[in-house]
Amino acid sequence: MKRIVVLASGRGSNFLAVASAIAEGKIAGRCVGLIVDRNGTLAAVRAERQRIPVITINYQEFRSRDEYEAELSAVLRSLNPDLIVLAGYMRILGSSIIREYAGRIINIHPSLLPSFAGLNAHRQAIEYGVRLSGCTVHFVDEGTDTGPIILQRWCDVSEDDDESTLSDRILTLEHEALPKAVSLFCEGRLTIDGRRVFISDEAE
Ligand code: GRF
Repeated sequence: MKRIVVLASGRGSNFLAVASAIAEGKIAGRCVGLIVDRNGTLAAVRAERQRIPVITINYQEFRSRDEYEAELSAVLRSLNPDLIVLAGYMRILGSSIIREYAGRIINIHPSLLPSFAGLNAHRQAIEYGVRLSGCTVHFVDEGTDTGPIILQRWCDVSEDDDESTLSDRILTLEHEALPKAVSLFCEGRLTIDGRRVFISDEAE
């Protein structure tokens, strides 16, 4: 069983999708902790309901980003994760953590990367006028939303869409894609080769 740690900042619907897939036996792993970077998140409430330990590392209480990252690093080490899942974690992870867990951190982003990286991906897609958008699950490297792509799911964008309708449609895709990618990782079926990720047919 792989040890999974999820990082989130808000609502936690992607966290819940992963936790539910674990509870249903669809993922060969267990969630050993949810780390949140602020107080009062719905993500934390959802984890507590699932009896998953919540660790709050409130960014506001630290004097500097380095001190926050040092605490995050210490907490991660204590949890000893095989996989770190960024599920709506609204910060850029520091490079020392990214290097320490290279190939073991995945992120969900609500666009078809490499289009519309960074913040406000739905707004970027609507303003650009694309007819197609979706979500991307990718390994995390030191860039913003630039790491090797594991899975993508896509949907139409209509002229009537606004940020809210598009994000609802993409969120449904996220809730399928993220648990699927976590499952593939936990079964040892993902191999990174440069920018490309290969998915093997059989469990290791
Ligand atoms: C999702 O759209 C995710 O792609 C983005 O932040 C949002 C988090 O939603 N990175 P939730 O907290 O998982 O509900």
